[in-house]
Amino acid sequence: MDDYVELKYGGKTYHLPLITGTEGEKAIDISRLRSETGLITLDPGYANTGSCISRITYMDGEKGILRYRGIPVEQLAERSTFKETAYLLINGRLPSLQELTHFSVMLNDHSLVHEDMKIFYQHFPRASHPMGILSAMVNALRSFYPALENLEEEINITVTRLLAKIRTMAAMSYKISLGHTPVYPRPDLAYCENFLNMMFHTPVRPYEIKEEVVRALEVFWILHADHEQNCSTSAVRMVGSARVNLYAAISSGIAALWGPLHGGANQAVVEMLTAIKEDGGDYRKAIARAKDRNDPFRLMGFGHRVYKTYDPRARIMKKMCDQLLDALNLDDPLLDIAKELEEAALNDDYFIEHNLYPNVDFYSGIVLRAIGIPTNMFTVMFAIGRLPGWIAQWKESMDDPMWKLSRPRQIYMGPVETDYIPIDQRG
Ligand code: SDX
Repeated sequence: MDDYVELKYGGKTYHLPLITGTEGEKAIDISRLRSETGLITLDPGYANTGSCISRITYMDGEKGILRYRGIPVEQLAERSTFKETAYLLINGRLPSLQELTHFSVMLNDHSLVHEDMKIFYQHFPRASHPMGILSAMVNALRSFYPALENLEEEINITVTRLLAKIRTMAAMSYKISLGHTPVYPRPDLAYCENFLNMMFHTPVRPYEIKEEVVRALEVFWILHADHEQNCSTSAVRMVGSARVNLYAAISSGIAALWGPLHGGANQAVVEMLTAIKEDGGDYRKAIARAKDRNDPFRLMGFGHRVYKTYDPRARIMKKMCDQLLDALNLDDPLLDIAKELEEAALNDDYFIEHNLYPNVDFYSGIVLRAIGIPTNMFTVMFAIGRLPGWIAQWKESMDDPMWKLSRPRQIYMGPVETDYIPIDQRG
Protein backbone atom coordinates (compact mmCIF):
# COMPACT_ATOMS: atom_id res chain seq x y z
CA MET A 1 0.00 0.00 0.00
CA ASP A 2 1.24 3.53 -0.83
CA ASP A 3 2.63 5.59 2.04
CA TYR A 4 0.86 8.67 0.71
CA VAL A 5 -2.58 9.81 -0.44
CA GLU A 6 -3.24 11.84 -3.58
CA LEU A 7 -5.11 15.14 -3.41
CA LYS A 8 -6.27 16.55 -6.72
CA TYR A 9 -6.95 20.31 -6.50
CA GLY A 10 -6.68 23.26 -8.88
CA GLY A 11 -5.52 21.05 -11.74
CA LYS A 12 -2.64 19.68 -9.66
CA THR A 13 -2.04 16.39 -7.86
CA TYR A 14 -0.49 16.53 -4.41
CA HIS A 15 1.00 13.62 -2.44
CA LEU A 16 0.26 13.84 1.28
CA PRO A 17 2.27 11.44 3.50
CA LEU A 18 0.37 8.60 5.20
CA ILE A 19 1.46 7.73 8.75
CA THR A 20 0.78 4.25 10.19
CA GLY A 21 0.62 3.68 13.97
CA THR A 22 1.75 0.66 15.99
CA GLU A 23 -1.68 -0.98 15.74
CA GLY A 24 -2.14 -0.12 12.06
CA GLU A 25 -4.21 3.04 12.47
CA LYS A 26 -3.53 5.51 9.67
CA ALA A 27 -3.35 9.32 9.40
CA ILE A 28 -2.76 11.79 6.60
CA ASP A 29 0.05 14.16 7.57
CA ILE A 30 -1.35 17.59 6.61
CA SER A 31 1.41 19.60 8.31
CA ARG A 32 2.43 21.04 4.90
CA LEU A 33 -1.09 21.20 3.38
CA ARG A 34 -1.54 25.00 3.60
CA SER A 35 1.97 25.88 2.45
CA GLU A 36 1.65 23.56 -0.58
CA THR A 37 -2.02 23.97 -1.55
CA GLY A 38 -3.34 27.03 0.33
CA LEU A 39 -6.01 24.74 1.78
CA ILE A 40 -6.78 24.04 5.45
CA THR A 41 -9.06 21.33 6.89
CA LEU A 42 -12.19 21.93 8.98
CA ASP A 43 -13.10 19.45 11.73
CA PRO A 44 -15.30 20.90 14.55
CA GLY A 45 -14.52 19.05 17.79
CA TYR A 46 -11.48 17.46 16.15
CA ALA A 47 -13.39 14.15 15.79
CA ASN A 48 -11.24 13.22 12.76
CA THR A 49 -8.04 15.06 13.63
CA GLY A 50 -4.95 13.70 15.37
CA SER A 51 -3.10 16.38 17.35
CA CYS A 52 0.09 14.45 18.01
CA ILE A 53 2.02 11.21 17.86
CA SER A 54 1.94 9.60 21.32
CA ARG A 55 3.44 6.52 22.96
CA ILE A 56 1.45 6.61 26.18
CA THR A 57 -2.06 5.17 25.78
CA TYR A 58 -3.70 3.08 23.08
CA MET A 59 -7.48 2.91 22.67
CA ASP A 60 -9.47 0.94 20.13
CA GLY A 61 -13.01 2.32 20.18
CA GLU A 62 -14.49 -0.48 18.08
CA LYS A 63 -12.92 -3.32 20.07
CA GLY A 64 -13.10 -1.65 23.49
CA ILE A 65 -9.34 -1.83 24.07
CA LEU A 66 -7.44 0.41 26.52
CA ARG A 67 -3.70 -0.02 27.26
CA TYR A 68 -1.28 2.15 29.24
CA ARG A 69 2.23 1.89 27.76
CA GLY A 70 1.06 -1.34 26.09
CA ILE A 71 -0.31 -2.98 29.27
CA PRO A 72 -4.09 -3.75 29.16
CA VAL A 73 -5.99 -1.71 31.75
CA GLU A 74 -7.68 -4.93 32.92
CA GLN A 75 -4.31 -6.32 34.07
CA LEU A 76 -3.33 -3.09 35.82
CA ALA A 77 -6.72 -2.93 37.58
CA GLU A 78 -6.24 -6.54 38.69
CA ARG A 79 -2.60 -6.45 39.76
CA SER A 80 -1.15 -2.93 40.00
CA THR A 81 -1.51 0.04 42.33
CA PHE A 82 -2.36 3.62 41.40
CA LYS A 83 1.13 4.79 42.41
CA GLU A 84 2.77 2.14 40.20
CA THR A 85 0.44 2.95 37.29
CA ALA A 86 1.25 6.64 37.67
CA TYR A 87 4.97 5.81 37.51
CA LEU A 88 4.36 3.65 34.41
CA LEU A 89 2.47 6.41 32.57
CA ILE A 90 4.93 9.18 33.45
CA ASN A 91 8.20 7.24 33.03
CA GLY A 92 7.16 4.86 30.24
CA ARG A 93 7.92 1.62 32.12
CA LEU A 94 7.06 -0.21 35.33
CA PRO A 95 9.36 0.73 38.26
CA SER A 96 11.79 -1.57 40.03
CA LEU A 97 11.07 -2.20 43.72
CA GLN A 98 13.77 0.34 44.62
CA GLU A 99 12.33 2.96 42.23
CA LEU A 100 8.80 2.45 43.54
CA THR A 101 10.00 2.74 47.13
CA HIS A 102 11.83 6.00 46.34
CA PHE A 103 8.73 7.30 44.51
CA SER A 104 6.60 6.51 47.59
CA VAL A 105 9.01 8.33 49.90
CA MET A 106 9.03 11.39 47.62
CA LEU A 107 5.21 11.44 47.44
CA ASN A 108 5.02 11.24 51.21
CA ASP A 109 7.69 13.91 51.76
CA HIS A 110 5.82 16.36 49.50
CA SER A 111 2.27 15.61 50.67
CA LEU A 112 1.92 18.70 52.90
CA VAL A 113 0.74 22.03 51.52
CA HIS A 114 1.95 25.46 52.65
CA GLU A 115 0.04 26.51 55.77
CA ASP A 116 -0.84 29.83 54.13
CA MET A 117 -2.94 27.91 51.57
CA LYS A 118 -5.47 27.15 54.31
CA ILE A 119 -6.35 30.86 54.33
CA PHE A 120 -7.24 30.64 50.62
CA TYR A 121 -9.55 27.69 51.29
CA GLN A 122 -11.21 29.35 54.27
CA HIS A 123 -12.22 32.35 52.14
CA PHE A 124 -14.02 30.41 49.38
CA PRO A 125 -17.82 30.58 49.89
CA ARG A 126 -18.88 27.33 51.60
CA ALA A 127 -21.05 26.34 48.61
CA SER A 128 -18.12 26.66 46.16
CA HIS A 129 -17.79 23.64 43.85
CA PRO A 130 -14.66 21.63 44.76
CA MET A 131 -13.57 21.54 41.09
CA GLY A 132 -13.44 25.34 40.96
CA ILE A 133 -11.45 25.36 44.20
CA LEU A 134 -9.07 22.63 42.97
CA SER A 135 -8.39 24.37 39.65
CA ALA A 136 -7.67 27.64 41.47
CA MET A 137 -5.50 26.07 44.17
CA VAL A 138 -3.41 24.00 41.74
CA ASN A 139 -2.68 27.20 39.86
CA ALA A 140 -1.88 28.91 43.18
CA LEU A 141 0.79 26.27 43.93
CA ARG A 142 3.06 28.15 41.53
CA SER A 143 3.02 31.13 43.88
CA PHE A 144 4.28 29.00 46.75
CA TYR A 145 7.01 27.19 44.83
CA PRO A 146 9.18 29.47 42.68
CA ALA A 147 10.87 27.95 39.64
CA LEU A 148 14.22 26.21 40.04
CA GLU A 149 17.11 27.11 37.77
CA ASN A 150 17.64 23.54 36.59
CA LEU A 151 14.68 22.74 34.27
CA GLU A 152 14.93 18.94 34.63
CA GLU A 153 14.98 19.21 38.42
CA GLU A 154 12.14 21.77 38.27
CA ILE A 155 9.96 19.39 36.23
CA ASN A 156 10.66 16.37 38.46
CA ILE A 157 9.95 18.21 41.71
CA THR A 158 6.81 19.85 40.24
CA VAL A 159 5.49 16.44 39.10
CA THR A 160 6.09 14.99 42.57
CA ARG A 161 4.51 17.98 44.32
CA LEU A 162 1.38 17.79 42.14
CA LEU A 163 0.89 14.03 42.63
CA ALA A 164 1.57 14.31 46.36
CA LYS A 165 -0.40 17.44 47.13
CA ILE A 166 -3.52 17.02 44.99
CA ARG A 167 -4.93 14.50 47.51
CA THR A 168 -4.19 16.83 50.44
CA MET A 169 -5.75 19.79 48.62
CA ALA A 170 -8.87 17.80 47.69
CA ALA A 171 -9.39 16.51 51.24
CA MET A 172 -8.69 19.97 52.66
CA SER A 173 -11.45 21.56 50.52
CA TYR A 174 -13.88 18.90 51.78
CA LYS A 175 -12.95 19.30 55.45
CA ILE A 176 -13.08 23.09 55.32
CA SER A 177 -16.45 22.96 53.50
CA LEU A 178 -17.72 21.07 56.57
CA GLY A 179 -16.20 23.61 58.92
CA HIS A 180 -13.78 20.94 60.16
CA THR A 181 -10.04 21.22 60.77
CA PRO A 182 -8.07 19.70 57.88
CA VAL A 183 -6.42 16.33 58.62
CA TYR A 184 -2.72 16.10 57.83
CA PRO A 185 -1.21 13.27 55.75
CA ARG A 186 0.42 10.53 57.84
CA PRO A 187 3.85 9.04 57.05
CA ASP A 188 2.64 5.54 57.94
CA LEU A 189 -0.16 5.49 55.35
CA ALA A 190 0.21 4.73 51.63
CA TYR A 191 -1.16 6.96 48.88
CA CYS A 192 -4.83 5.89 48.83
CA GLU A 193 -5.11 5.20 52.57
CA ASN A 194 -3.74 8.67 53.31
CA PHE A 195 -6.37 10.30 51.11
CA LEU A 196 -9.20 8.37 52.75
CA ASN A 197 -7.90 9.21 56.21
CA MET A 198 -7.56 12.92 55.36
CA MET A 199 -11.12 12.88 54.04
CA PHE A 200 -12.93 10.97 56.77
CA HIS A 201 -10.88 10.91 59.98
CA THR A 202 -12.25 13.05 62.83
CA PRO A 203 -10.92 13.41 66.40
CA VAL A 204 -14.09 11.85 67.76
CA ARG A 205 -14.32 9.07 65.18
CA PRO A 206 -10.97 7.80 63.87
CA TYR A 207 -11.31 6.52 60.29
CA GLU A 208 -11.28 2.75 59.99
CA ILE A 209 -9.29 1.83 56.88
CA LYS A 210 -10.96 -1.09 55.10
CA GLU A 211 -8.97 -3.09 52.55
CA GLU A 212 -11.94 -3.40 50.17
CA VAL A 213 -12.43 0.37 50.13
CA VAL A 214 -8.72 1.03 49.54
CA ARG A 215 -8.65 -1.49 46.67
CA ALA A 216 -11.78 0.05 45.13
CA LEU A 217 -10.12 3.49 45.25
CA GLU A 218 -6.88 2.13 43.73
CA VAL A 219 -8.81 0.59 40.85
CA PHE A 220 -11.02 3.68 40.44
CA TRP A 221 -7.92 5.85 40.01
CA ILE A 222 -6.12 3.32 37.78
CA LEU A 223 -9.13 3.27 35.44
CA HIS A 224 -9.09 7.09 35.21
CA ALA A 225 -5.32 7.53 34.91
CA ASP A 226 -5.12 8.34 31.18
CA HIS A 227 -7.27 8.25 28.06
CA GLU A 228 -5.15 9.60 25.17
CA GLN A 229 -6.26 12.95 23.65
CA ASN A 230 -9.56 13.56 25.51
CA CYS A 231 -10.85 17.10 26.08
CA SER A 232 -8.99 17.84 29.32
CA THR A 233 -5.73 16.25 28.19
CA SER A 234 -5.91 18.26 24.97
CA ALA A 235 -6.42 21.38 27.13
CA VAL A 236 -3.29 20.53 29.13
CA ARG A 237 -1.30 19.99 25.92
CA MET A 238 -2.65 23.17 24.28
CA VAL A 239 -2.05 25.41 27.32
CA GLY A 240 1.32 23.71 27.87
CA SER A 241 2.31 24.46 24.26
CA ALA A 242 2.62 28.14 25.24
CA ARG A 243 5.42 26.96 27.59
CA VAL A 244 3.48 28.00 30.68
CA ASN A 245 4.39 26.28 33.96
CA LEU A 246 2.97 22.80 34.63
CA TYR A 247 0.73 23.96 37.49
CA ALA A 248 -1.13 26.32 35.13
CA ALA A 249 -1.41 23.66 32.42
CA ILE A 250 -2.85 21.13 34.89
CA SER A 251 -5.23 23.79 36.24
CA SER A 252 -6.63 24.18 32.69
CA GLY A 253 -7.13 20.40 32.50
CA ILE A 254 -9.11 20.46 35.75
CA ALA A 255 -11.29 23.24 34.36
CA ALA A 256 -12.02 21.27 31.17
CA LEU A 257 -12.73 18.06 33.10
CA TRP A 258 -15.38 19.86 35.18
CA GLY A 259 -17.80 19.93 32.23
CA PRO A 260 -20.81 17.56 32.43
CA LEU A 261 -20.07 16.23 28.93
CA HIS A 262 -16.63 15.18 30.17
CA GLY A 263 -15.50 14.38 33.70
CA GLY A 264 -18.49 16.10 35.30
CA ALA A 265 -20.66 13.27 33.95
CA ASN A 266 -20.02 11.07 37.02
CA GLN A 267 -21.77 13.65 39.20
CA ALA A 268 -24.48 14.11 36.53
CA VAL A 269 -25.12 10.33 36.39
CA VAL A 270 -25.84 10.09 40.12
CA GLU A 271 -28.03 13.21 39.95
CA MET A 272 -29.91 11.60 37.02
CA LEU A 273 -30.33 8.25 38.84
CA THR A 274 -31.44 10.06 41.99
CA ALA A 275 -34.04 12.03 40.02
CA ILE A 276 -35.34 8.77 38.48
CA LYS A 277 -35.54 7.20 41.95
CA GLU A 278 -37.38 10.21 43.37
CA ASP A 279 -39.76 10.11 40.41
CA GLY A 280 -40.79 6.58 41.35
CA GLY A 281 -37.90 4.73 39.68
CA ASP A 282 -39.40 4.75 36.18
CA TYR A 283 -36.20 4.74 34.10
CA ARG A 284 -38.25 4.45 30.89
CA LYS A 285 -38.99 8.19 31.02
CA ALA A 286 -35.24 8.90 30.94
CA ILE A 287 -34.83 6.59 27.94
CA ALA A 288 -37.69 8.33 26.13
CA ARG A 289 -36.28 11.80 26.84
CA ALA A 290 -32.79 10.73 25.71
CA LYS A 291 -34.27 9.61 22.37
CA ASP A 292 -36.35 12.77 21.86
CA ARG A 293 -34.43 15.04 19.48
CA ASN A 294 -36.43 18.01 20.76
CA ASP A 295 -35.27 17.33 24.32
CA PRO A 296 -31.70 18.40 25.21
CA PHE A 297 -31.66 15.66 27.90
CA ARG A 298 -28.95 13.06 27.42
CA LEU A 299 -28.49 9.76 29.22
CA MET A 300 -25.51 10.72 31.33
CA GLY A 301 -22.79 8.08 31.51
CA PHE A 302 -23.77 6.79 28.07
CA GLY A 303 -22.01 7.37 24.77
CA HIS A 304 -18.43 8.21 23.92
CA ARG A 305 -16.52 9.98 21.17
CA VAL A 306 -14.16 7.03 20.72
CA TYR A 307 -15.78 3.91 22.22
CA LYS A 308 -18.51 2.61 19.93
CA THR A 309 -18.81 -0.45 22.16
CA TYR A 310 -18.77 -1.05 25.91
CA ASP A 311 -16.12 1.14 27.60
CA PRO A 312 -13.74 -1.46 29.11
CA ARG A 313 -13.47 0.71 32.23
CA ALA A 314 -17.25 0.65 32.72
CA ARG A 315 -17.19 -3.15 32.67
CA ILE A 316 -14.61 -3.25 35.48
CA MET A 317 -16.38 -0.46 37.41
CA LYS A 318 -19.73 -2.30 37.22
CA LYS A 319 -18.17 -5.47 38.63
CA MET A 320 -16.48 -3.42 41.36
CA CYS A 321 -19.86 -1.95 42.36
CA ASP A 322 -21.21 -5.39 43.16
CA GLN A 323 -18.03 -6.49 44.96
CA LEU A 324 -17.72 -3.34 47.08
CA LEU A 325 -21.40 -3.10 48.05
CA ASP A 326 -21.31 -6.80 48.96
CA ALA A 327 -18.11 -6.44 51.01
CA LEU A 328 -19.52 -3.44 52.89
CA ASN A 329 -22.95 -5.05 53.17
CA LEU A 330 -24.45 -1.98 51.52
CA ASP A 331 -27.48 -1.77 49.30
CA ASP A 332 -27.70 1.18 46.92
CA PRO A 333 -31.04 1.51 45.07
CA LEU A 334 -29.27 3.65 42.46
CA LEU A 335 -27.27 0.58 41.39
CA ASP A 336 -30.47 -1.35 40.70
CA ILE A 337 -31.85 1.59 38.68
CA ALA A 338 -28.55 1.89 36.78
CA LYS A 339 -28.59 -1.79 35.84
CA GLU A 340 -32.24 -1.62 34.69
CA LEU A 341 -31.49 1.55 32.73
CA GLU A 342 -28.45 -0.07 31.09
CA GLU A 343 -30.41 -3.22 30.20
CA ALA A 344 -33.22 -1.18 28.63
CA ALA A 345 -30.85 1.11 26.70
CA LEU A 346 -28.68 -1.72 25.37
CA ASN A 347 -31.82 -3.33 23.91
CA ASP A 348 -33.24 -0.13 22.45
CA ASP A 349 -32.80 0.52 18.71
CA TYR A 350 -31.92 4.20 19.21
CA PHE A 351 -28.96 3.36 21.47
CA ILE A 352 -27.93 0.44 19.28
CA GLU A 353 -28.03 2.53 16.08
CA HIS A 354 -26.10 5.36 17.76
CA ASN A 355 -23.53 2.96 19.29
CA LEU A 356 -24.31 4.29 22.76
CA TYR A 357 -22.94 2.16 25.61
CA PRO A 358 -22.10 2.86 29.25
CA ASN A 359 -18.86 4.81 29.63
CA VAL A 360 -16.53 5.05 32.64
CA ASP A 361 -18.86 7.52 34.39
CA PHE A 362 -21.99 5.36 34.40
CA TYR A 363 -21.10 3.19 37.39
CA SER A 364 -18.20 5.14 38.90
CA GLY A 365 -20.46 7.38 40.98
CA ILE A 366 -21.97 4.39 42.73
CA VAL A 367 -18.51 3.19 43.73
CA LEU A 368 -17.74 6.66 45.10
CA ARG A 369 -21.03 6.76 47.03
CA ALA A 370 -20.14 3.41 48.65
CA ILE A 371 -16.74 4.82 49.66
CA GLY A 372 -18.50 7.83 51.18
CA ILE A 373 -17.33 10.53 48.76
CA PRO A 374 -19.85 13.40 48.52
CA THR A 375 -21.42 13.79 45.06
CA ASN A 376 -19.94 17.24 44.41
CA MET A 377 -16.44 15.71 44.81
CA PHE A 378 -16.92 12.96 42.22
CA THR A 379 -15.17 14.91 39.47
CA VAL A 380 -12.37 15.84 41.87
CA MET A 381 -11.83 12.08 42.26
CA PHE A 382 -11.66 11.80 38.46
CA ALA A 383 -9.10 14.66 38.40
CA ILE A 384 -6.85 12.98 40.99
CA GLY A 385 -6.94 9.80 38.91
CA ARG A 386 -6.26 11.64 35.62
CA LEU A 387 -3.36 13.70 36.97
CA PRO A 388 -0.65 11.13 36.06
CA GLY A 389 -2.02 11.00 32.51
CA TRP A 390 -2.08 14.78 32.17
CA ILE A 391 1.51 14.93 33.45
CA ALA A 392 2.68 12.15 31.12
CA GLN A 393 1.02 13.76 28.11
CA TRP A 394 2.40 17.22 29.00
CA LYS A 395 5.94 15.80 29.39
CA GLU A 396 5.66 13.96 26.08
CA SER A 397 4.58 17.15 24.32
CA MET A 398 7.44 19.14 25.87
CA ASP A 399 9.93 16.51 24.64
CA ASP A 400 8.33 16.23 21.17
CA PRO A 401 10.49 17.94 18.49
CA MET A 402 7.34 18.27 16.30
CA TRP A 403 5.38 20.00 19.10
CA LYS A 404 4.92 23.76 18.77
CA LEU A 405 2.55 26.46 19.92
CA SER A 406 -0.99 25.17 19.31
CA ARG A 407 -2.81 27.65 17.10
CA PRO A 408 -5.63 26.20 14.90
CA ARG A 409 -6.85 28.07 11.81
CA GLN A 410 -10.51 28.83 10.86
CA ILE A 411 -12.86 29.41 7.95
CA TYR A 412 -14.19 32.98 8.22
CA MET A 413 -17.89 33.45 7.39
CA GLY A 414 -18.35 36.95 8.84
CA PRO A 415 -19.10 40.27 7.06
CA VAL A 416 -16.97 41.50 4.17
CA GLU A 417 -14.94 44.69 4.69
CA THR A 418 -17.15 47.52 5.91
CA ASP A 419 -16.51 51.13 7.15
CA TYR A 420 -16.94 52.50 10.66
CA ILE A 421 -20.10 54.65 11.00
CA PRO A 422 -19.89 57.47 13.59
CA ILE A 423 -22.60 57.16 16.24
CA ASP A 424 -24.45 60.32 15.12
CA GLN A 425 -24.88 58.81 11.63
CA ARG A 426 -26.23 55.42 12.73
CA GLY A 427 -29.91 54.48 12.38
C1 SDX B 1 -15.66 11.14 29.48
O1 SDX B 1 -12.85 11.57 25.45
C2 SDX B 1 -12.66 10.81 26.47
O2 SDX B 1 -11.88 9.89 26.42
C3 SDX B 1 -13.49 11.19 27.70
C4 SDX B 1 -13.40 10.24 28.89
C5 SDX B 1 -11.99 10.23 29.51
O3 SDX B 1 -11.65 9.23 30.15
O4 SDX B 1 -11.30 11.30 29.40
O5 SDX B 1 -13.75 8.92 28.48
C6 SDX B 1 -14.35 10.68 30.00
O6 SDX B 1 -15.82 12.31 29.23
C7 SDX B 1 -16.73 10.12 29.19
C8 SDX B 1 -18.02 10.77 28.59
C9 SDX B 1 -18.83 11.33 29.75
N1 SDX B 1 -19.98 12.12 29.23
C10 SDX B 1 -21.24 11.67 29.32
O7 SDX B 1 -21.56 10.57 29.77
C11 SDX B 1 -22.29 12.67 28.85
C12 SDX B 1 -23.34 11.96 27.98
N2 SDX B 1 -22.72 11.55 26.71
C13 SDX B 1 -22.70 12.48 25.67
O8 SDX B 1 -23.12 13.75 25.77
C14 SDX B 1 -21.93 12.09 24.41
O9 SDX B 1 -22.08 10.74 24.22
C15 SDX B 1 -20.46 12.47 24.40
C16 SDX B 1 -20.29 13.92 24.61
C17 SDX B 1 -19.71 11.70 25.45
C18 SDX B 1 -19.90 12.09 23.04
O10 SDX B 1 -20.67 12.70 22.12
P1 SDX B 1 -20.16 12.94 20.60
O11 SDX B 1 -19.13 11.93 20.23
O12 SDX B 1 -19.81 14.38 20.42
O13 SDX B 1 -21.40 12.55 19.77
P2 SDX B 1 -22.61 13.52 19.46
O14 SDX B 1 -22.84 14.45 20.63
O15 SDX B 1 -22.38 14.12 18.12
O16 SDX B 1 -23.84 12.49 19.41
C19 SDX B 1 -23.98 11.63 18.28
C20 SDX B 1 -25.44 11.20 18.33
C21 SDX B 1 -26.41 12.37 18.48
O17 SDX B 1 -27.64 11.99 17.90
P3 SDX B 1 -27.98 12.51 16.37
O18 SDX B 1 -28.11 14.03 16.47
O19 SDX B 1 -26.83 12.08 15.50
O20 SDX B 1 -29.29 11.84 16.05
O21 SDX B 1 -25.65 10.38 19.50
C22 SDX B 1 -26.58 11.03 20.35
C23 SDX B 1 -26.62 12.48 19.96
O22 SDX B 1 -27.86 13.07 20.30
N3 SDX B 1 -26.09 10.87 21.72
C24 SDX B 1 -26.85 10.66 22.78
C25 SDX B 1 -25.97 10.52 23.86
N4 SDX B 1 -24.72 10.65 23.42
C26 SDX B 1 -24.79 10.88 22.11
N5 SDX B 1 -28.19 10.57 22.92
C27 SDX B 1 -28.65 10.36 24.18
N6 SDX B 1 -27.87 10.19 25.27
C28 SDX B 1 -26.53 10.26 25.14
N7 SDX B 1 -25.77 10.10 26.21
